[in-house]
Amino acid sequence: MHIHKYEKIWLTFGIGCLIVFLTVVGVSAFAAGQQPPSCLTTIDPEKVDTTPPFDHPGLVKKGDDEYELNIVVAAFSFTPNAIEIPKGAKVTINVTSKDVIHGFEIPGTNINMMVEPGYVNSLTTTFDKPGEYTILCNEYCGAGHHMMTARIKVVE
Ligand code: CUA
Repeated sequence: MHIHKYEKIWLTFGIGCLIVFLTVVGVSAFAAGQQPPSCLTTIDPEKVDTTPPFDHPGLVKKGDDEYELNIVVAAFSFTPNAIEIPKGAKVTINVTSKDVIHGFEIPGTNINMMVEPGYVNSLTTTFDKPGEYTILCNEYCGAGHHMMTARIKVVE
């Protein structure tokens, strides 16, 4: 009956591994909060124009060299579409869509966000090089998709 004994040992080992595995998965899932980093803030897409901060879109000074840039995205525009940002400033960009899913990409940087109706997507960045940057929509959103652009000018 030696085989029986080994089977028991392996069975115990197997169940033990399963418990360890499930514990690790469970603990890490709950510890991480199981939420994507953005998409935490929801907004009524029909009321974007009257919901702060999107009722006054644009650049807002939040502190010494710290800004918030709130942009309303809709087919087929970014509002505002010409923004001046001081070089080296810490800028938190918040975007939301009034209609369909759009994109928010600034070529030459690592900025690339989805813009979804009902959600506020955010990221914080710093523009270290002065010059002109273009904001593009990189999600196909309809006939005017290719015309959806805006400009950021980073100034010294
Ligand atoms: Cu908006 Cu494509």
